[in-house]
Amino acid sequence: MAAEEPTGKASIAAVFNRAAAVYDQVGVDFFGPAGVRLAELAALAPGESVLDVGCGRGASLVPAAAAVGSAGSVIGIDLAPAMIDKTNERIAESGLRHARAELGDAESPGYPEDSFDAIIAGFVVFFLSDPVAAVARYSRLLRPGGRLVMTVRLMDRQEDTEIPRIVNEALLPFETGARPAPRRPRDPLGTRDGVEEVLVTNGFTGVRVVDETYHARFDDPAHYWRWMWSHGARERLEKIPADRLEPAREAVVSALSAFARDERFVYPIPARFAVAERA
Ligand SMILES: C[S@@+](CC[C@H](N)C(=O)[O-])C[C@H]1O[C@@H](n2cnc3c(N)ncnc32)[C@H](O)[C@@H]1O
Repeated sequence: MAAEEPTGKASIAAVFNRAAAVYDQVGVDFFGPAGVRLAELAALAPGESVLDVGCGRGASLVPAAAAVGSAGSVIGIDLAPAMIDKTNERIAESGLRHARAELGDAESPGYPEDSFDAIIAGFVVFFLSDPVAAVARYSRLLRPGGRLVMTVRLMDRQEDTEIPRIVNEALLPFETGARPAPRRPRDPLGTRDGVEEVLVTNGFTGVRVVDETYHARFDDPAHYWRWMWSHGARERLEKIPADRLEPAREAVVSALSAFARDERFVYPIPARFAVAERA
């Protein structure tokens, strides 16, 4: 009998397990700087306790641990054990004994109420099936005055879609059957008004929505292909039959080469941070 394909959370964990070795390791400055910014927006002070949900390879966990210092503590949770292993290696190399990463679900972190001064969530809430319930849970996990900082979707922001459009069109002929529907076509956190309403309804105050753009640089079109394998986009590439992958790579590289007059090019990636305080 053929092995069943994992679905839902198991499938997300499996994709990031396979990406872990190369996640944020292919020379593209995006998750790193955005993680530093996430920790900065949490306005962490020495001695504070932080929970990083969906910590990945520690893009925000490591700067958060530096900000709270050895009198503080940082716990990172993730569904993908390989991501956790990489983060714990990074923690050990940096000598950050007050930080650790462990298996956990960002939808329902299992810690007592009022445990944390800050919760940070980088590029993870849009993977959750019920992000509003997760925000309600974060509110209970935070102490009064505790901060929540999340990156959220941008359904109401004009973004430069040229590169994703070119790559999408190049890939379509190689995808058999219908593409899976986007995980959350109607994301309640996907607009400024939406995220503000969800935060206020769940006991947060002082909500700020911060829009930024990260200018990710690529050495050449093949670099972009390698980058796709290093993060969540690999889920789409893995669905292409093995014998079609090389032609798919050539199509993406050729389409991007026609776009990038110079071989090097920049993809301006928009990011939105939602920042709030537990009332
Ligand atoms: C795009 S990566 C972001 C990682 C990191 N926060 C960063 O900014 O680089 C998304 C991460 O969220 C994790 N993830 C997805 N759903 C999760 C869930 N329900 N609970 C915990 N982690 C989850 C994935 O395994 C992956 O490591």
